[in-house]
Amino acid sequence: MLKLSLVASALAGAVAAISNELAAELGYPAGVDVWCGKAYRASNASFEPGGWLETPVLSTTPLLDLSIQPRMNLYLDGEDYASLIVNAPISYMNGKSFVNSTFNKQDNLTSPFTILFVDIQTSETGVDLVSHANVTINSTANEFVFSLASFTPRLEPYEIVITGAAGDGAQFYTATTELYYLPKRTDGGSVTKVDNLYGGLLVQDYLTNSTEWTSIFPYTYYVSWDGWLDLSTDNLKVFKDQGFNIIHIVPNEALPNEAFNFTQLDSFLDIMDEMELWLMFDMRWTYTNTSWVEQQVQMVNARKSMLLWYTGDEPDGHVDPLNATKITYDLIKSIDPYHPVSICLNCLNYYFEEYTSGADIIMSDPYPISVNTSWSTQYDTACNTTYGCCGCDDCDGTFEDVSNRLDLYTEYQEILGLAQKPQWGVPQAFGNETFWSRYPTPEEEIVMNMLFINHGAKGIAMWDYPTEAGIANTTGALSRVLTKPAITSFLLGSFVQALPVAGEERIDVASWTVGSQMLVSVVSKDYVPAPSANVTIAMPAGVKATGLSELLWGSGWVVAGGMLYKTGVEALEVDMFVLDLA
Ligand SMILES: *[C@@H]1O[C@H](CO)[C@@H](O)[C@H](O)[C@H]1NC(C)=O
Ligand SMILES: *[C@@H]1O[C@H](CO)[C@@H](O)[C@H](O)[C@H]1NC(C)=O
Ligand SMILES: *[C@@H]1O[C@H](CO)[C@@H](O)[C@H](O)[C@H]1NC(C)=O
Ligand SMILES: *[C@@H]1O[C@H](CO)[C@@H](O)[C@H](O)[C@H]1NC(C)=O
Ligand SMILES: *[C@@H]1O[C@H](CO)[C@@H](O)[C@H](O)[C@H]1NC(C)=O
Ligand SMILES: *[C@@H]1O[C@H](CO)[C@@H](O)[C@H](O)[C@H]1NC(C)=O
Ligand SMILES: *[C@@H]1O[C@H](CO)[C@@H](O)[C@H](O)[C@H]1NC(C)=O
Ligand SMILES: *[C@@H]1O[C@H](CO)[C@@H](O)[C@H](O)[C@H]1NC(C)=O
Ligand SMILES: *[C@@H]1O[C@H](CO)[C@@H](O)[C@H](O)[C@H]1NC(C)=O
Ligand SMILES: *[C@@H]1O[C@H](CO)[C@@H](O)[C@H](O)[C@H]1NC(C)=O
Ligand SMILES: *[C@@H]1O[C@H](CO)[C@@H](O)[C@H](O)[C@H]1NC(C)=O
Ligand SMILES: *[C@@H]1O[C@H](CO)[C@@H](O)[C@H](O)[C@H]1NC(C)=O
Repeated sequence: MLKLSLVASALAGAVAAISNELAAELGYPAGVDVWCGKAYRASNASFEPGGWLETPVLSTTPLLDLSIQPRMNLYLDGEDYASLIVNAPISYMNGKSFVNSTFNKQDNLTSPFTILFVDIQTSETGVDLVSHANVTINSTANEFVFSLASFTPRLEPYEIVITGAAGDGAQFYTATTELYYLPKRTDGGSVTKVDNLYGGLLVQDYLTNSTEWTSIFPYTYYVSWDGWLDLSTDNLKVFKDQGFNIIHIVPNEALPNEAFNFTQLDSFLDIMDEMELWLMFDMRWTYTNTSWVEQQVQMVNARKSMLLWYTGDEPDGHVDPLNATKITYDLIKSIDPYHPVSICLNCLNYYFEEYTSGADIIMSDPYPISVNTSWSTQYDTACNTTYGCCGCDDCDGTFEDVSNRLDLYTEYQEILGLAQKPQWGVPQAFGNETFWSRYPTPEEEIVMNMLFINHGAKGIAMWDYPTEAGIANTTGALSRVLTKPAITSFLLGSFVQALPVAGEERIDVASWTVGSQMLVSVVSKDYVPAPSANVTIAMPAGVKATGLSELLWGSGWVVAGGMLYKTGVEALEVDMFVLDLA
């Protein structure tokens, strides 16, 4: 998604540099074009971009990092129960000092501090939601269900406070969160929930008037509006029939309103409402124009097929004002508290906290295929951590760029002491332009897609559509697998867990366990086949695989002795299957 406009206008020599005020605020020389805060023109010298999040110095003694979050980002009038997720991990980065002992006045004995006694209340009214509950020290994802009877639906959130103490009360911890208990919609519009535990989205199937909340694994492309979709409403069916369950429509920058002819868009949205093709509404060109955002949100938010908003497209790359995403986020939520807001970051490590403060969902788009990451083919300069634009920020031009990016964004949120926001992936599905000399092959496409998912992505939107026939074909097939309810229930109903692989390098294995079954995804990042390799995948401690239940992609593995075996791995092999467990 590194914008053609960047390149096109670069060639025209007329890029608008960031404002002098913003340059001054960031400590940059005025009038220098930057990407991810880096000067990238040969005529400009390198300087320190800043905005780099450092790993803090770790505490030498353990800390207890108590936190609380509602299970769902919102509850609706009519729901009787909600739940809260309590985490009490031992950390060396965040939290309050922890001493592993507690004194019992009854017997004068000191014992290890293994249980935190917690109470959870509504700050406003002091109503107890959970009383005298136990949370094991160093445990996470403790879920407490409570009744919503004492709450009145309203737009403002309720503050929830948790207090936790050791048995002797000598060590005391507290944390807060916000609970949204919203009025029902009366305008027919849909509601999308975010599951704060597993990171998935939930929707209601409005075609059957269902009140059930169903997990949806969004799988789509950024679809060109003026280049393709707007040619015919029939294209909606073409797109859906390929297997994609949502559509991210890229607005038309060339229009005076830098968005859509809304009369025309409405005729598309009518059809999307009818076919339940979910909408990801993109305001990339206009998201800093608050009055125009307000009008667009008012026009679209009550659509049945509305799934989520998209504001900043690579705001970090463009060096948008650091408060831009948050200002727009607050505005959108004030009009439409019923749908989440997403953004896509392009930089490895550039003002992550500021830009992501304006999003519920964090997307990232490292494009590693056929790109020179050390020398800019567009600007004829070196690229490094302080200089140059090579198309993939601080990348190596390998598949690992994808998995590293997700892992780093997870780590940044840990460093910041924030609850993990869901991440979505933007796999590269374009090429033969600017920095990228060719398209990915269909095999490379699947490897990138699955690396995003193996590292926790809860949705996929590839850049961009239309793409090459082979890529469209294979991703359509992958979408049909990932969006099957039985498979989505693994991806959005459990934590992803990496599995160790022996016998071959560069194989990435992830697993999701629900009940007595495990979804396994095996991704080989190697372009060279290893026909005689004897590869083994170990199960987590205490888990035994007993058999292959369903093969979803690629080839199956032999289950023996509770483990997985395979002789021979193909180039860029991707396998996905469900195991039965003992
Ligand atoms: C940056 O390069 C532009 C030309 O692309 C030039 O006009 C400008 O003076 C340079 N600025 C600095 C501070 O080097
Ligand atoms: C505990 O210690 C206190 C003060 O030293 C003492 O008064 C009390 O009798 C002790 N209790 C027991 C059960 O030993
Ligand atoms: C506290 O001490 C007990 C007993 O030695 C030990 O089992 C437990 O793991 C310790 N907890 C922490 C968080 O260190
Ligand atoms: C909490 O832990 C205490 C001490 O281990 C125990 O007596 C009590 O029954 C526990 N309460 C609950 C609700 O599990
Ligand atoms: C806390 O839990 C983590 C993750 O499960 C584990 O790696 C660590 O050893 C535990 N720490 C203690 C002190 O038990
Ligand atoms: C859903 O509800 C609407 C409005 O109440 C009604 O017109 C429609 O027939 C219902 N659809 C189904 C499938 O029940
Ligand atoms: C907007 O779209 C409508 C319906 O397709 C069309 O009739 C109208 O001319 C378009 N408006 C503009 C300004 O292009
Ligand atoms: C946002 O930041 C810009 C500078 O980057 C500043 O001029 C503006 O006042 C800020 N807006 C708000 C609402 O804080
Ligand atoms: C990046 O490259 C520029 C231009 O070659 C150089 O001036 C700068 O020192 C380099 N930065 C780093 C961190 O190596
Ligand atoms: C690559 O792009 C060029 C210029 O846009 C076009 O002429 C050519 O056909 C494209 N090649 C492939 C293989 O798509
Ligand atoms: C699409 O995939 C099917 C099998 O899944 C294959 O038979 C067909 O040749 C593919 N078409 C293209 C254009 O790659
Ligand atoms: C493959 O490796 C496993 C574990 O190292 C070993 O038990 C097994 O015999 C090997 N199989 C073959 C065919 O070499």
